[in-house]
Amino acid sequence: MVIKWRDEYSCYDETIDMQHRKLIELINDMNEIAKLDDGLDRYDEMVSIFEELKDYAVYHFGHEEKMFAEHGYDSFNTKIQVLEHKSFVNKVSSINLYDLDEDQIGTARDLLDFLSKWLDHHILVIDKKFGEFLKEKADIT
Ligand SMILES: [Fe+2]
Repeated sequence: MVIKWRDEYSCYDETIDMQHRKLIELINDMNEIAKLDDGLDRYDEMVSIFEELKDYAVYHFGHEEKMFAEHGYDSFNTKIQVLEHKSFVNKVSSINLYDLDEDQIGTARDLLDFLSKWLDHHILVIDKKFGEFLKEKADIT
């Protein structure tokens, strides 16, 4: 599944949207490499993009979690967000480097499949809900 930015992804917050675009970009960079399938060794390149993706995701989740606290987002939805964030980081951290070395394309594609589905759901359902909460709050005040 290739993930492309679309207007529907907007969470009504410029910073969150910009960070989501960056995550999509990194997933697509990885996808481009996995698509090549030309038999060349791309292990180092793949590991470095996954590292960047993990670091950027951690940064982005930290930003979101700070916003939940600042804006008094309810504890139920905050909990769901935090669990979702953990599952993404765990998945990216759990890449088996041995598997990746043995089967670069297969391992990368499996992971990409999980990450793009996860991100699509995260943006459209989970973060969108927070975006709507922010929008409502702004309308009231
Ligand atoms: Fe997010």
